[in-house]
Amino acid sequence: MSRANVGGMVVGPDVAGHGSRSGECIAPVAPGRLPLLGHTMSLLGQPFRFLSTLRSHGEVVQIYLGTLPMYVVTSPELAWQVLATDADSFDKGMIFDKVRPLFGNGLLNSDGDFNRRQRRLMQPAFHRKRIAGYVHTMAKAASGLVESWRPGEVVAVDEQMDSLALSIVGRTLFSTELGRDAVAEAQRSMPILSKYLAIRAFAPKFAERLPIPANRRYDEAAARFRRVVAEVIAAARAESKDHGDLLSTLLLARDEDTGEGMSDQQVHDEVVTILTAGAETTAVALAWFFYELGQHPEVERRFHTEIDHVIAGRIVTFDDIPRLQYTQRIIREVLRKYPLLLLMRRARTHVDLGGVHIRPGTEVALSQYALHHDPYLYPDPTRFDPDRWLPDRAATLPKGAFVPFGAGLHHCPGYSFAETEITIVAATVAARWRLVPVAGKPVHPRLTATMRPSRLSMITMPRHA
Ligand code: HEM
Repeated sequence: MSRANVGGMVVGPDVAGHGSRSGECIAPVAPGRLPLLGHTMSLLGQPFRFLSTLRSHGEVVQIYLGTLPMYVVTSPELAWQVLATDADSFDKGMIFDKVRPLFGNGLLNSDGDFNRRQRRLMQPAFHRKRIAGYVHTMAKAASGLVESWRPGEVVAVDEQMDSLALSIVGRTLFSTELGRDAVAEAQRSMPILSKYLAIRAFAPKFAERLPIPANRRYDEAAARFRRVVAEVIAAARAESKDHGDLLSTLLLARDEDTGEGMSDQQVHDEVVTILTAGAETTAVALAWFFYELGQHPEVERRFHTEIDHVIAGRIVTFDDIPRLQYTQRIIREVLRKYPLLLLMRRARTHVDLGGVHIRPGTEVALSQYALHHDPYLYPDPTRFDPDRWLPDRAATLPKGAFVPFGAGLHHCPGYSFAETEITIVAATVAARWRLVPVAGKPVHPRLTATMRPSRLSMITMPRHA
């Protein structure tokens, strides 16, 4: 698993003295740094390639976002240290400061004791029993979509999965009539927010204040979205009734020790966070799921055989999920190949990362994409191979090698929700349709907050005459 240069920090002409003490290693600076811009152009222009090459320079490598240095850890062991073992030594970091105007102090954007309290309060919303209760909403929304398809139709799978995932998370959050307006507004503003979020995250700070259309569109969408969510919360609070939806769980949650609940502002921030964190991530995984089936007829055949055998034309239920073993392996392989690009942190204390001394205040990151495409961990990493996840083969992976949902303190609370949703949607589609690639339309990932496919058009073919 390890490679020759792991731990071998290069000290040479292209290194910064940042953090150096005698006897300590100094992390090399990645090649291609430009004055003022740092590595921003590489990160925005060729993010996947740029991040994948970092490990060949060492286990900890410095890159510059504009003039701001950031230490990227490139081995699974150090990724695990940052996310899990030493999680308490890190806050979330710069990217989160930048998205604070949108997410406020929601889970994704908070740290320390406050984050821990919020996670405790929100746990019931993500409990297995609750998720089992959302399955009906998921299956209904998926059935609505597949029933709208006609044989031989070309559908924009990426857009349809965006819309489906947003409406699923929206309807599980807000089951009321008024909630529909919030879901409709989310459908309108979310694509704009997600498009500009990644650019904002990596671009130098001053770029946010430039009076350019991109900034105006982002700010307007964020303001509209927050306003509609505020209206739904105000109405639900006034009604004070358990609708069995996620919003009711948030409004009714009480701290076990103090008996206190969340303020309206906090519920608001959590709702915006869940809509943002839970929709696009799942939609992207679903789009790649269908893309990869379309590229691999043998995988598709085995998937269909399993669905026909286990589901046999019924509505999919929560209890079916553990029986869909091959489907689960496809989902893992999709999450390996198409994860988030980067997770970021900021050191709160002095930390030793593979011999490199990290001072408080230093930005640290790890790339899930690079880890999941490391040929030392995943032979032939661009190959789509669900059988990598057969128990014997998967057992050889070190901790930190597969982190699609992060790990440790901030491990994604929605992971079971997401895996359930992907399974239900995939099985609902497979009961009736194959999605066939359109010839001559290559699909490639592009950079947004997630690894979105470029336009993914596929043709609907009925599976049964
Ligand atoms: C395939 C789908 C998903 C992926 C790949 C994904 C990925 C992640 C990752 C990597 C993190 C950790 C971020 C970090 O450590 O900085 C995270 C956190 C989070 N996710 Fe997910 N997620 C998915 C679906 C969902 C869903 C469906 C929801 C909610 C319904 C959700 C809600 C959250 C929240 C609230 C956090 C913040 C947790 C914290 O910081 O304490 N996610 N997610």
